[in-house]
Amino acid sequence: MTASASSQKPLLRALKGEALWPPPLWLMRQAGRYLPEFRALRAQADFLTRCTTPDIAEELTLQPIRRYGMDGAILFSDILILPWAMGQSLEFVEGKGPILQPIRSEEDLKRLDPKRIADVTAPIRETLTRLTKSLPEQTTLIGFAGSPFTVACYMVEGSGSRDFAITRKMMMEEPLVFDRLIDLLVNQTAEMLFGQIEAGAQAVMLFDSWAGLLPPSAFRRAVIEPTRKIVSLLNDRYPHIPVVGFPRLAGVMAVEYAVKTGVGTLALDTSADPVQIAALLDQHAPHVTLQGNLDPTILFSGGEALVQEAQAIRDSLRHRPHVFNLGHGVMQHTPPEHVAELVAAVRSL
Ligand code: CP3
Repeated sequence: MTASASSQKPLLRALKGEALWPPPLWLMRQAGRYLPEFRALRAQADFLTRCTTPDIAEELTLQPIRRYGMDGAILFSDILILPWAMGQSLEFVEGKGPILQPIRSEEDLKRLDPKRIADVTAPIRETLTRLTKSLPEQTTLIGFAGSPFTVACYMVEGSGSRDFAITRKMMMEEPLVFDRLIDLLVNQTAEMLFGQIEAGAQAVMLFDSWAGLLPPSAFRRAVIEPTRKIVSLLNDRYPHIPVVGFPRLAGVMAVEYAVKTGVGTLALDTSADPVQIAALLDQHAPHVTLQGNLDPTILFSGGEALVQEAQAIRDSLRHRPHVFNLGHGVMQHTPPEHVAELVAAVRSL
């Protein structure tokens, strides 16, 4: 595809700083258990097999596009593929989420093998390449990774957690081990995203779901600085590829994050007031696109409140580049009709 053809896609235009009306949209976790066609395939293979089998991952990525015609298709994969590809054990247990063998020491770190990543993730790049052919012309293909801090949270804790206390304690008590882990993740995340871009990803997103756990000093050390390095590696090599950053629950630190990391798009979580963040960005980083941030619970509930809230967010950001999205992923029991209603509401003028 030529650069001029790809730059016509509405989502890419918005990610590159154009204010479009209506704004383009896609949803975090748009492929998922709320779709009956997803549940049908889910029975056939476990989660990691689904992520690493191009036939299945391509189909799961396409399902929400077929149903709703979203402007963006996010690769069906997971942020924990990276530690798994380095050899850390990973299992998704029903009702518990991800379970990993925890990394807590220098010796644990030494057992990780970054040389495995390229081979283990080859099927994921194959999925992306297939998608460049099977997606509609106007749909943007989005690659992604977890940000180093959030991926480190799962690697150190060994599972999900309400507060990731073990990880945050390690950050204070074993700064050398923690910083080595973050450095490893910075380099390997950038490498993995280079591979996704070479395979066909037209934009990339960094998910930092647990960024909001940190006080400002730790936020600068474990969220802003590692993200800045990844963005700079990406921008040096692929300056035309937009980068979206999602520092979830960062509050007002989200503005400093956008300014210092250099992300082109700041994805807002449910708690952020888009008008307040937009006003701060207008002073410090007026070219940053905003993405977000409808509460997934409102999508789950549906009805008139869904239409009103969605249009209120859309209308409040009309003057600046905006990509409509949720403030976190689609909830599991969301009625699929509500997603169709949301898409219609955002696109109706
Ligand atoms: O549709 C999409 O958004 C693309 C694919 C995608 C998944 N996970 C698929 C998935 C993306 C972008 C992610 C990101 C991800 N994964 C994050 C960051 C965003 C966020 O939600 O905060 C995190 C923290 C993870 C780690 C993870 N993966 C957890 C904690 C879980 C278990 C919870 C759950 O919902 O089951 C997963 C599993 C997972 N990742 C599923 C899907 C569709 C469910 C797996 C299944 O079908 O059993």
